[in-house]
Amino acid sequence: MSLFRTKSVEQSIRDTEAPEHRLRRDLSALDLTVFGVGVVIGTGIFVLTGQVAKDKAGPAVALSFILAAVVCGLAALCYAEFSSTVPVAGSAYTFSYATLGELPAWIIGWDLILELALGAAVVSVGWSGYLASLLDSGGITLPAEISHPPGEEGGVVNIPAIVLVLAVTALLVAGVKVSSRVNAVVLTIKLAVVFLVIIAGLFFIKGDNYTPFIPPQKSTPEVEGAAAPLMQVLFGITPVSFGWLGIFAAISIVFFAYIGFDIVATAAEEARDPQRDLPIGLIGSLIITALLYAAVSLVVVGMQNYTELSEAAPLADAFKAVGHPGFATVISFGAVAGLTTVVLILLLGQSRVFFSMSRDGLLPAWLAAVHPRFGTPYRSTIMMGAIVACLAGFIPLAKLAELVNIGTLFAFLVVSIGVMVLRRTRPDLPRAFRTPLMPLTPILSVLACLFVMMNLPLETWYRFLAWMGIGVLVYLAYGRSHSRLKKGLKA
Ligand code: ALA
Repeated sequence: MSLFRTKSVEQSIRDTEAPEHRLRRDLSALDLTVFGVGVVIGTGIFVLTGQVAKDKAGPAVALSFILAAVVCGLAALCYAEFSSTVPVAGSAYTFSYATLGELPAWIIGWDLILELALGAAVVSVGWSGYLASLLDSGGITLPAEISHPPGEEGGVVNIPAIVLVLAVTALLVAGVKVSSRVNAVVLTIKLAVVFLVIIAGLFFIKGDNYTPFIPPQKSTPEVEGAAAPLMQVLFGITPVSFGWLGIFAAISIVFFAYIGFDIVATAAEEARDPQRDLPIGLIGSLIITALLYAAVSLVVVGMQNYTELSEAAPLADAFKAVGHPGFATVISFGAVAGLTTVVLILLLGQSRVFFSMSRDGLLPAWLAAVHPRFGTPYRSTIMMGAIVACLAGFIPLAKLAELVNIGTLFAFLVVSIGVMVLRRTRPDLPRAFRTPLMPLTPILSVLACLFVMMNLPLETWYRFLAWMGIGVLVYLAYGRSHSRLKKGLKA
């Protein structure tokens, strides 16, 4: 049963008081919301909108965005209760340690690497693509060898992606306050560009582009074997796109656009008043982004027929298509600035999860030390930055975005279960925010996550299961015997 030993909530909170492990508490509700929105708006809306409208959902891609927001909203209501009860760095990992036990917590921490580190790598590769296109409009063409990963368009190494990851890592080591200020400036640029698309785009909408709003379902038998969504394989359906099944399949991809709102919860330990600020940060950033995504996607599919949307830079290219390349350049610039903050916050979240795991002894303890001057967990930050830089530089990541999604959905699912468990095991704990309609909300959240996961391809499931299998082995080989909780219990 030692695999399911739990760390008490009081112990989790006490751990954060130890001076050598203390992070600075200086984030307000506004800082947290800025963090949330800053990480959430990114590759999802800037890149995936076009691809998904073209291949899967047609003009109805806005519906996929809204349905994905509902899935995230259910999870957010669970996250908010958890994070306001256990306000300690580490997000879903910490929550699981307090409720489900050490092995499930480890599994979640390991799984969060998919969301955070792999997500950061995916976004930095996307950033590198936008940078190339921005430089291109200024007449500078980057050689393919140094701007693509091996195996893609004659690439050898993606230097811009590596440089971005390393620069962001340096910011994070220098301290949260610096990086959140940088983040606020960049977020302003990103929001300005999003509003530019919505408002300027309105003038170029053609009503014809909205018919049919939901294109009729189309069979795609060329999508075979492991590339087909699990659900369609299970039910023996020949793979299809468009129609309602297409809209559902699209949810599993545009879901990426919301990844990151949960990171607000990972910064819990650094919040001034976590009990009040966290729920505001979580739910606030989700509502803001859902509204913006629905508006942007409606405008873009109205400007250009969905069959003609670009897959690399759909927002910018829609303006080129209506004869306004100047807007396109501004949008590319905003995307470059905007994706920077996404990488920044994903890596921040990752370093905090790692920090918590090593503080608990599940990873080597030296990783948990806080920098004497900057007050940041610099070792875990630098280590993860180096790994993410390698991933971003050498691996083509298009397919891996799906792996990020499945990992994140799995974490949401565990948090939703955890919130029900904690209500039973620790009904006494003060909860600044209580998930409404218990247990209906978490149950719906679990079902919604499972549904979206089942719309991901079989091969994504294989990769996910393989990664999780490796994680269990690492735990059995190291964490199980080095766990501080285990040592404490013995003593
Ligand atoms: N939600 C973030 C993005 O879309 C990860 O880039």
